[in-house]
Amino acid sequence: MRISDPFLEISKIAEIPYELVPKNYEIIGKSMLIKFKNNFPFDKYRIARAFKEVFKLHAVYEILEIKGPLRIVNVNLLSGERIVEQHMENGIIYSLDPSKIMFSKGNKYERWRISQLVKEGQIVVDMFAGIGYYSLPASKSAKEVHAIEINPESFHYLVMNRFLNNSFNVIPYQMDCRDFPYDNFADITILGHFESLNFLGKATEIAKNNSLLMIHTIEKRGSQFPDIFREYNLKITSRRIVKSYSPSTVHSVYEAILSK
Ligand SMILES: C[S@@+](CC[C@H](N)C(=O)[O-])C[C@H]1O[C@@H](n2cnc3c(N)ncnc32)[C@H](O)[C@@H]1O
Repeated sequence: MRISDPFLEISKIAEIPYELVPKNYEIIGKSMLIKFKNNFPFDKYRIARAFKEVFKLHAVYEILEIKGPLRIVNVNLLSGERIVEQHMENGIIYSLDPSKIMFSKGNKYERWRISQLVKEGQIVVDMFAGIGYYSLPASKSAKEVHAIEINPESFHYLVMNRFLNNSFNVIPYQMDCRDFPYDNFADITILGHFESLNFLGKATEIAKNNSLLMIHTIEKRGSQFPDIFREYNLKITSRRIVKSYSPSTVHSVYEAILSK
């Protein structure tokens, strides 16, 4: 039996050398987002049409940028039509509009990890919930997941995904997480934002004594643990590299226990 290579087909249809077919993409449901290298020398629309045909997609977008603290996505539709997708992962349905909201395959392990960490009956606070990336896996064992999201677009999908997954123990809040009203409350506090270190003050108020914090950050490759953890009495129990972020930086996640 011959196994066909989709990139070979794309290179033939789009008439570009095999090794230059872009490999840096995300597939969300049946939509693809491609990050092209600077000064990509071929017709992007022709390549997008080839991807759409070979991968049988609804839409192919070019990622232009992902900007600001709200991680707003700016894309260009190259082929097909814009559709709200349903993306399945580990038995969870994530509904989202890929032209507006990211879903990173690089964070797949972290979404699974949360589902394993949460124990029956625990209270989880997800300070940067997005569309429910971590809240939904956490909800499988948690008593309650308090999911805070500031951006109305993401919040809309968070509410929808709560219904789609029958995760009625997810309690959504559309607000700035700095205004969350409960202290000494969470068994697990999730800070899924690259600027998490600026929110440690609030996170350590929300968290109970001896509870777990999951802290995402961007840092220099090979750097020491940031000093700020000591200031907040956080004892690091693990650090993982989630993915490469730029040639000199990585997206890391720290698991830490808080002493109050
Ligand atoms: C980087 S995204 C979440 C990414 C996600 N953890 C993942 O795995 O792909 C961070 C989310 O935090 C939200 N956000 C940013 N600042 C916030 C704040 N002060 N309070 C609540 N949500 C906030 C953004 O709108 C965005 O949806």
